[in-house]
Amino acid sequence: MADASGSTERDGRLWMEGKTLVQLSADQERPTHMPRGPAKRTGPGFLNPAMAPARTRSVLLLADALEHDWLVKPDHDLRALDALCATGVRVRRWRNEVPAEHQQRLRITANDLDNVALNRLIAAHEHHPPATRVDHALEDDRYERLPSGTMHNGLFVMNNDARIALMEAAYQWVDLDPFGSPVNFLDAAVQGLSRVAFLEVTATDTAALTGSSASSGQRRYGAKGIVDSYAHDDAVRVLLGLIATTAARHDRCVEPVLALFDGHHVRVSVKIRRSREGASDVLQSMGWRVRNEDGTYRFVQHPAPDEVGKASGPMWIGPLWDKDIAGRMTEERVLSLCNPTEDDISRGQANGLIWNEDDSKYAARELVRSVRYIAQAADLMSREHTLYHMDDLPNMAGVGHGPKMEALFEAVQQNGYHAARVPDIDPFFVTDAPHDELMAVVRALLA
Ligand SMILES: C[S@@+](CC[C@H](N)C(=O)[O-])C[C@H]1O[C@@H](n2cnc3c(N)ncnc32)[C@H](O)[C@@H]1O
Repeated sequence: MADASGSTERDGRLWMEGKTLVQLSADQERPTHMPRGPAKRTGPGFLNPAMAPARTRSVLLLADALEHDWLVKPDHDLRALDALCATGVRVRRWRNEVPAEHQQRLRITANDLDNVALNRLIAAHEHHPPATRVDHALEDDRYERLPSGTMHNGLFVMNNDARIALMEAAYQWVDLDPFGSPVNFLDAAVQGLSRVAFLEVTATDTAALTGSSASSGQRRYGAKGIVDSYAHDDAVRVLLGLIATTAARHDRCVEPVLALFDGHHVRVSVKIRRSREGASDVLQSMGWRVRNEDGTYRFVQHPAPDEVGKASGPMWIGPLWDKDIAGRMTEERVLSLCNPTEDDISRGQANGLIWNEDDSKYAARELVRSVRYIAQAADLMSREHTLYHMDDLPNMAGVGHGPKMEALFEAVQQNGYHAARVPDIDPFFVTDAPHDELMAVVRALLA
């Protein structure tokens, strides 16, 4: 039975992610503002708060595509599908947090196999509606056969196997966020995309992607890993490689926009367009990472027989990000789109949200953390660079301890190169300085 605020007996407390109200299930504890690590439990109504930063970045990317017209023409609609939407927090955030001026162009479909989760999505969307009302009718000309689903204040909700949902209309934006590996859904996702499209993929099977589970890495990704300082970057590149080769099989090519190892999952976002020539070139961006004697690495298309033991791959060896798009993912931007106003909070509180000043402070800090280091690293991550783990520097340079990161970056810049920290749980940085010059800088700093 629902009360005046729309809560049912099975519902727990209200929570706010970004500026969107989320109804937690009764048995879920209040999330902390900085959750790390894999979710302790899952279930139909369970919200995984550790995925909030990925959802926040998804809001930023979608808003950026509409604002800068890099996916569809200015006067065209953009059709977005969250193929495995669970309780629909991502689609509700798209509807609520992408700026109002773009909302009428945004057509959103939410799909999941779990009806209980979908009912929670529909109830939450009804009781906590988005700031802008959007009334689309179903675009029936878009579908081969009309899908079964229902429209709820600008969200079309379907209860299908994702592989069917993905093929039902040509979507320009597809989000794949499964439990574990996305491999089962990739073919359908790529085939269902429109001619020019954007695909975001989450993989939580990091053991397979990093190589720490060799057999599942081989089976799912056809890849061999080495668990060392480059394992996180390998994981990102192995997933990108699988997406690029899957796309190529369907005459499409990819351009990575953002690719991150975010603690316990990998998340990659790529533009995909139909192009036979582009697809034929895919192998030029595929290769292996071979470890050098000095602790660095080089990318090669094929390792020589005596290099195989110190090589991981095959993987994507091209650029990882789009400089302009990632460069716009700033702290100011995330706060202006996703930080709740006092009105948002008061409206939530009137519905039963318990939220104090500390919550506001921590939530804003978490939003900033979801884009931390991205804009600053955007240039280097979109061109050739070398990745370093701070902890490896003393050994590499033959010094007792490493320099401070800020001092190192300043010195690298004084030498005419660039360096930036990479968003990762570990202290990684990227630079375009040649290895010998970087080592000289490290030694000089510690002399
Ligand atoms: C990790 S959750 C998605 C979380 C969601 N994207 C979010 O941000 O809150 C994975 C979802 O995939 C759904 N699922 C699993 N297999 C599916 C399939 N074959 N077709 C559609 N949904 C499926 C599950 O019901 C579950 O809700």
